[in-house]
Amino acid sequence: MNTKPNNSQHSPPTEPTSIANLLAEARRRLLAAGIESAGLEARLLVGYQLNMDATRLIAHGEQALSDDQIGAVRALINQRVDGVPVAYLLGQREFWSLPLRVDEYCLIPRPDTELLVERALGRLPDGPARVIDLGTGSGAIILALKSERPRIEAWASDTSSGALAIAAANARDLRLDVHWFRGHWLDAVSPRPWFDMIVSNPPYIGASDPHLEQGDLRFEPRSALVAAGSGLSDLATIVRQAGRCLRPGGWLLLEHGHTQAPLIRRMFEEHAFVAIASHRDPAGHERVTEGRLADE
Ligand SMILES: C[S@@+](CC[C@H](N)C(=O)[O-])C[C@H]1O[C@@H](n2cnc3c(N)ncnc32)[C@H](O)[C@@H]1O
Repeated sequence: MNTKPNNSQHSPPTEPTSIANLLAEARRRLLAAGIESAGLEARLLVGYQLNMDATRLIAHGEQALSDDQIGAVRALINQRVDGVPVAYLLGQREFWSLPLRVDEYCLIPRPDTELLVERALGRLPDGPARVIDLGTGSGAIILALKSERPRIEAWASDTSSGALAIAAANARDLRLDVHWFRGHWLDAVSPRPWFDMIVSNPPYIGASDPHLEQGDLRFEPRSALVAAGSGLSDLATIVRQAGRCLRPGGWLLLEHGHTQAPLIRRMFEEHAFVAIASHRDPAGHERVTEGRLADE
């Protein structure tokens, strides 16, 4: 016997959910969750799930959606309301105008890191040079450098095989050649003056930093964010190891936390670097430090 009440003859007809209705619902829910760019994110997430760009979403606003489509969009919005970064939901983030795949195995590349790319390009010749990016994550830095200086021999490493897989996929998509390897900073590289430049954006947040419990950081790999010694230990290891693998006159450029610059400059001085300088991000924070290995 069917015990389910059949109200269909009595309930008022409900309006079919259209794209415009669903967009408005998504925006309302994202706003209520405290997301500032709720309108933009609603368009991105609804468009992603329906496979439509913003223009089509608007042009087809009256189009009615199937229950499956509505369910899939609502499930995506639920995840965003729960805090999952929009870049992970879309599987993509733009960096240095390059569309990069991202997933939960890699850090979401930040606009601040474009300062490191900018400074590195200022130090690279137009001709051949051998460059390595340590802790490459999605491959953001080395792919940006290779896209601007096709003649460099590009190398990159990470301890995370998940990150290396996404970085290699990005390189394939962009048709850029990079040599990838897995390893702890420069441990796997024999001590010879291989490189003209070493760049890195290593983990530099202290384990007890409250920012780790906020925003996107809650969902990114801890191994990409946190370093021992109040966030300084990986930076210190790289500065210590760099001199063994840089040619004399070669450059080391590091991204770091905005209060760490004086300590990083001191580390550079203690390890035979000269022409040491820190550079400010658009917010005015010292974010990148560079130095040249003294000539012999
Ligand atoms: C802050 S993320 C930077 C990712 C990417 N370079 C970027 O700027 O978007 C730091 C990266 O360092 C990697 N990493 C952490 N410890 C490492 C180690 N001991 N050796 C090499 N890479 C490491 C992490 O897996 C992560 O991909």
